[in-house]
This record gives sequence, structure tokens and C-alpha cells, in this order.
Amino acid sequence: MKKTILITAGPTREAIDPVRYLSNHSSGKMGYALAQAAISSGHRVILISGPTNLKEPQGAHLIPVVSALDMKRAVLKHLKKADVVFMVAAVADYRPERIARQKIKKSARALTLKLIPNPDILKELGTKKRADQIVVGFAAETNNTVAYAKKKLASKKCDWIILNNVAKAGIGFGSEQNEVTLFSKTGHTQKFPRQNKTSLALRILSTVIK
Ligand code: PMT
Repeated sequence: MKKTILITAGPTREAIDPVRYLSNHSSGKMGYALAQAAISSGHRVILISGPTNLKEPQGAHLIPVVSALDMKRAVLKHLKKADVVFMVAAVADYRPERIARQKIKKSARALTLKLIPNPDILKELGTKKRADQIVVGFAAETNNTVAYAKKKLASKKCDWIILNNVAKAGIGFGSEQNEVTLFSKTGHTQKFPRQNKTSLALRILSTVIK
């Protein structure tokens, strides 16, 4: 059955001043691969994307965003329409408390930036979602990977969490390939070995939309 699938992808950028920002290494490839897989499988796709260099997947409703606050607004605006939500984006956990209106001038002294927490969009979805909606989070971990992923599954009240061990070479951020483990809130575990993000996306999609 045709579903509406909301996908977040890419990094967020948290402005420091008009020329600088804090961000991370997400390329958007995993999220865009999921969007493409969903479109090829006949679903409607709303793709909320941080800045990437990727081509817009044909047939997706692409909503470009920059910061975590922009992404939160866009996700909440479109949540009602979604049957399934995949939160693939690497949302910055912190943002500078103040954005300087003008370029911060270089000086010989150390510069301290005060960072404040960004809202946790996925956690908010866990409390806002309808019973008929499926929310899938991703967990990018470098250590204690299974324990941290399972903790996120419970604390963010997701239906699924997809563990990405980003300490492994050749997978995760920026790479063409990935390798993940899915955990469901009902106790189901499924491992997908290293493969390209396109084929992995199709396998993730068919596991979640059974
Ligand atoms: O984009 P690629 O280069 O292809 O790389 C893919 C990927 C490594 C980014 C992807 O597979 C992945 O693991 N995405 C999750 C990245 C992440 O931010 O993980 P996290 O463990 O910090 O966050 C857990 C979950 O909470 C994620 O679903 C995230 O979208 C969500 N989150 C996090 C922080 C925040 N403030 N709000 C959120 O909604």
C-alpha cells in the first residue's frame, strides 16, 4: 500500500557568525538512499534535508533546512501526513547560545563559545506520534554501541532504532557503503552486513514496512 514517508537527511549547521558554523560529517547519502528506495517502491516521500551536495531525488518533496531549529519546525509541520518517519539526519546536539551579527574578528586570545542544547526532535516525535505512525531513529555510535542504541530506542520512544557504528572504517558518515543493526521496540533484531547504501536502504525499508 502506498504510504507517505517522511525522511530527514544530512547534517544541520549551527551558525556562529555570518561566515562560520558548527556541523558534522553527514553527507546525506543514507537519507537520500532511503528516499530513493521509498520512491522506487511507490511511496510518497517528504525529504527534509540539511545542506548536502546531493542531487534531489526525483519525485520527492524536498524541504531544504539549515539548522536543527529549522529541521524541527519542518518535521513538526509535516508530521501529520506521515505514516512512517525515518530520522536519518545528524542533528547537532548543541548550538551557539548567541549568533554574532558580524564576523568575529581574530585575536591572539582564546575564544570561548557557549553552546546550548538543541531540541531533540526524535524524542519529541516519540511523545507526539499517533499510534498508527512508525518512527524510526538512527543511532550513530562509536563505543558501547548496542547499549547506547537500545537506550535511545527506549528513551526516545521509537518503534525502531538503527545502529550505525561510525567508528568502523569505510561505513557511516560520507561513505558509499554502510552496515547497520536494527532493533525494534518489540525485541526484534536484524543485522544487515556491509553493502552500498542503495541496497541497504531497500532492505531497511522492507523490514520496517512489513
Ligand atoms: O549522511 P551519511 O554521510 O550517509 O551518513 C549516515 C549517518 C551516519 C548520518 C546515518 O546513518 C546516521 O547514523 N544518522 C544518525 C546520526 C545521529 O545524529 O545520530 P545520534 O545518535 O546523534 O542521534 C540519534 C537520533 O536522534 C537520530 O535519529 C537523530 O536524527 C535524532 N536527533 C538527534 C539529536 C537531536 N537534537 N534531534 C534528533 O532528532
